[in-house]
Parts: sequence; structure tokens; C-alpha cells
Amino acid sequence: MTNYKILISDPMSEEGIFPLRDTEGITVVFDTDLNPQELAEKITGFDALLVRSKTQVTRELIEKADKLKIIGRAGVGVDNIDLEAATEKGIIVVNAPDGNTNSAAEHTMAMLMSMARKIPQAFTAMRNGEWDRKSYVGVELKGKTLGVVGFGRIGAEVAVRAKGQRMNIIAYDPFLTQEKAEELGISFGTVEEVLKASNFVTVHTPLMKETRHLINEKAFGLMKKGVQIINCARGGIIDEKALYNAIKSGKVAGAALDVFEQEPMVDFRLLDLPEVVATPHLGASTHEAQENVAIDVSLDVVSYFSKGVVRNS
Ligand code: NAD
Ligand code: MLT
Repeated sequence: MTNYKILISDPMSEEGIFPLRDTEGITVVFDTDLNPQELAEKITGFDALLVRSKTQVTRELIEKADKLKIIGRAGVGVDNIDLEAATEKGIIVVNAPDGNTNSAAEHTMAMLMSMARKIPQAFTAMRNGEWDRKSYVGVELKGKTLGVVGFGRIGAEVAVRAKGQRMNIIAYDPFLTQEKAEELGISFGTVEEVLKASNFVTVHTPLMKETRHLINEKAFGLMKKGVQIINCARGGIIDEKALYNAIKSGKVAGAALDVFEQEPMVDFRLLDLPEVVATPHLGASTHEAQENVAIDVSLDVVSYFSKGVVRNS
């Protein structure tokens, strides 16, 4: 194989990139601290670019890339990549659609349970020297309804786990059918029906034009008083201003957020509310998931350069 140069611009599992390391004719360069301007200068001469979610693969960057043939996203969401600009230049974009499904589903359950039992709030109080057994009374999950908006890989895995907590599940997804829902032992409805029926709502859609602010003021208006919300999918699916107002008004009793409209987060007002628990986009941050997604995109890059084909594009 002729020499191909691969730039990795976000932190990535070294164990997971062994397919690249083990292939003769492939040179890997790790440079994960570049700002957008430095990256645009560096990209010249590279045949492949591997990223997670930090690097913004913009039109400007793609236009500077003279030799780029493939962009690998070590994760699910490709909303940090300008797909239109890549397509116009004939650059293939691949992702790792299922390497972090399990981790993201587990994180969603961890967030749901932490929120329901106010564990982070109680821990913070203990750290501050308080022994307060009155302020952190939670709610049980058993018998409650979990609304799952977006029933793809992660949404479906969350539903299986929530059933283990003896929750009732109602889901909406344009590709979910009545037959499939019956087979899985869950209910199925429109978004409006899901929002009206649920004690907890968790979103698992991609971020796209159609899903930006899917959970907005109107959506909160449909929900039960005391509903609790989880977002471990993408910032922007929930309108953060509307969420803030819905919590302040008492309509929403809890929010568990792993992802934010702007990342890294700059507006911390939501976190001032005692009803909110949060993590800084850690859904896929396990050793297993990071190794899986790095292996998946590395295999795609090797396959593309050696055989001209990829698995996911
Ligand atoms: P997926 O493609 O398997 O599932 C997404 C589902 O959303 C699909 O079934 C699709 O039909 C559905 N959908 C699309 N538009 C919809 C709409 N308007 N209303 C309802 N459903 C709609 O993706 P996935 O692997 O399950 O990932 C789900 C989300 O989680 C993505 O946004 C992904 O980027 C994100 N994610 C986040 C983390 C994290 O670190 N927090 C980790 C992995 C994935
Ligand atoms: C994803 O879309 O896979 C997640 O956001 C995880 C990540 O940032 O890599």
C-alpha cells in the first residue's frame, strides 16, 4: 500500500487504533490540542482525519484539506462534521454507530437514577459537612412511565434496562411500528402522546433540523406536572431556555443532562437550579466504548485504503 497519512485530532484510545498501527503504509499522527486555525494549517497532506466530538470539521477546514479522502468519527453523532462540504469534495464520512451504545445506555440509566434519588445533590451537601436526610427525598421508578423519544440503538437499550426497573415504557420513533412495540412489550404513541403519558422523558434522537428544540415550551406544556427529563443524546434537542423556565415554574421536577447547546458549556445558569444533575458529555466515556469506536473507525480507514470500501458511510 502506498503511504497514507492519518491525523487524529481528538483524544482516542491507543489500544483501539491498532488496525492503523499494524498496517504497513499507514502513518498515524496524534495532535489533539490544535485550535481551528492550527488544524486548518496542519490538515494539508493528510489522507484521513479521525475525530470525536471536540473537533469541528467545518467547510473552511474541508476546503483546506488538499488530500483528504475519508473522515472517521469515533462515535455516533456526525453533527460536528459539515457533511455537505465533505460530499461536495468527494470525501467519505464514516462513524462508529454501535461501539458506544451500551455505555450511553448505562449512562442514561445512571443519570435517571441519580436524578430520581437526588444523589449528586445529597453528596454535595455531605461534602459541605451537612447531614441532611430531609431535603433529598426522591421518587421510585417502579410503576412510573418512561417516555423514550427516539427508539434507535440507545433508546431501545435504555428501554430494556428501564423495564428491569419495572418501569412502563412508551416510545415514539418514526420507524417504530405497533407490531414491534408489542413484540418488545412497550407502548407506542405520537410524540404528543408520549409527552402527555410520561413521568420521565428521555430523548435519544440525532440532532438535526427536525429535532432541534423538539422539547420546547409547547412540549413542556403537554407534560405532566412533576415530569423529569433526561438528555444523554445531543444538546439542542431540548430548548435550554424553555427547560429553565419549566423548572422554575414547577412543571419540571428534575433534569439530568449530559449534553448542552454549547459545549464546552459557557452558560451555567441551569446548573444553579437544585433540580438539575449534569455530566460534561460523558455518555461514551468508558474504556470499553472508546476502544470499540476507535477500532471501528480504524478498520474502516484501513478497509477504504486497502480495498476501496467501508462499512458505514
Ligand atoms: P440511532 O441512529 O440508532 O437512533 C436514533 C433514532 O432517532 C432513530 O431510530 C431515528 O429513527 C430516531 N429519530 C429521528 N428523528 C426523530 C424524531 N424527529 N423523533 C423521534 N425519533 C427520531 O442513534 P443512537 O446510537 O441511538 O444515538 C442516539 C443519540 O445519542 C444521538 O444523538 C447520538 O449522537 C447520541 N449519543 C450521545 C452519546 C453521549 O456521549 N452522550 C453517546 C452516544 C450517542
Ligand atoms: C457520540 O455521538 O458518539 C457521542 O457524543 C460520544 C462522543 O462524543 O464521542
